[in-house]
Amino acid sequence: MDNVFLIIFSIFFILQYVRGFDFEERELQSEASLDQLYERWMKHYSVERIPGSIERGERFNVFKDTVMFVHETKNIPYNLKLNKFADMTFKEFSNIYANCNSGYDKEASPNASGRFMYENVTQLSDSFDWREEGAVSPVKDQKECSVEGISQIKTKTPIIPLSAQELVDCVTNKKNGCEGGFMDRAFDFITRNGGITTEQNYPYKGLDENCQTPKKSDATIDWYEEVPKNEDALLKAVANQPVSVAIDADNPDFMTYTGGVYNGTCGKNLSHAMTVVGYGSDSNQTKFWIVKNSYGVGWGEAGYIRMERGIKDHEGLCGIAMDAWYPIKYKFRNPFASIDEDHVKDEL
Ligand SMILES: *[C@@H]1O[C@H](CO)[C@@H](O)[C@H](O)[C@H]1NC(C)=O
Ligand SMILES: *[C@@H]1O[C@H](CO)[C@@H](O)[C@H](O)[C@H]1NC(C)=O
Ligand SMILES: *[C@@H]1O[C@H](CO)[C@@H](O)[C@H](O)[C@H]1NC(C)=O
Ligand SMILES: *[C@@H]1O[C@H](CO)[C@@H](O)[C@H](O)[C@H]1NC(C)=O
Ligand SMILES: *[C@@H]1O[C@H](CO)[C@@H](O)[C@H](O)[C@H]1NC(C)=O
Repeated sequence: MDNVFLIIFSIFFILQYVRGFDFEERELQSEASLDQLYERWMKHYSVERIPGSIERGERFNVFKDTVMFVHETKNIPYNLKLNKFADMTFKEFSNIYANCNSGYDKEASPNASGRFMYENVTQLSDSFDWREEGAVSPVKDQKECSVEGISQIKTKTPIIPLSAQELVDCVTNKKNGCEGGFMDRAFDFITRNGGITTEQNYPYKGLDENCQTPKKSDATIDWYEEVPKNEDALLKAVANQPVSVAIDADNPDFMTYTGGVYNGTCGKNLSHAMTVVGYGSDSNQTKFWIVKNSYGVGWGEAGYIRMERGIKDHEGLCGIAMDAWYPIKYKFRNPFASIDEDHVKDEL
């Protein structure tokens, strides 16, 4: 019974976010009305700023700039609204949420084999959404990874959220957990570690702590491959499983995005990792990727972004096809993984 209430409550909560936070022209007319708008926004996103504090004052100034930016940006096919980042400066956003500026694309991974298991895939449907197949876990406010998807697809068991903190702590040679080549290092770790544990066993803290090796590996992968750097190849891969990608997220439109098919101007300085979980096209025949982000449900379309697909540049909008990787799961065990007897038993 409790669960039913919890589910109803969660749906209500998510719908609130899907609708987004709107404001009216009259709320922009005076300092006092803007202040009320700010209070309303804080309540909506459960943000607390101590009344009368210096921080409250500074944040309010930033908020007003964001309000004006959102209000004055017109003639774009996607929506910008006051999302959960509205009282954060672009610089802060950029440093925290689009910070993997170390050239994902510059060096090929030493472990990339050049093999692409989906190269001969044909007959792709016009649209596909892994969420409808139960292969996507709920949106979190933390790092994402495509391993949850392949695990569900191959084991046919309900989706289990896996531990992002284990990757943050245990994947070495990194800064902010996402320095260039993070995805292949993460897959490499999971492969050699003999798996990854659940979010519940090893909860998210955000900070980089010491790597604890959990006894039980709840999801295993056998290897990983890079998608050739073009959108056609990415489509073949996504039709078969969720795929980890990196994009150039370092722009104010991306920060304030709240829905629609995104086609903002962006470069190819890959700065942020996400997971492509599907594709499709809208009623205007604009093609898009369905991408799961890790900013929580208070951003985008309840945590997702639809990004324009099939643009002239084969590397994709914001470089989405430039650094795409997916985990591989075979029926047999991979020879590099450490032997974990419990686990072998599980699989037999
Ligand atoms: C794709 O087809 C070619 C030609 O038949 C074959 O040589 C290649 O091994 C196939 N690739 C994969 C990944 O199966
Ligand atoms: C490549 O594989 C080696 C082991 O052969 C491993 O030590 C290294 O971390 C891997 N590199 C990446 C980028 O995954
Ligand atoms: C986004 O799409 C709109 C409508 O199709 C178009 O007018 C605009 O130029 C596009 N923006 C970019 C940056 O390509
Ligand atoms: C990409 O990053 C480089 C080095 O940090 C910088 O010089 C360049 O201006 C950036 N390009 C864009 C389009 O942001
Ligand atoms: C399709 O294009 C029209 C005209 O540009 C626009 O008004 C409408 O919102 C678009 N529909 C979608 C689903 O984007």
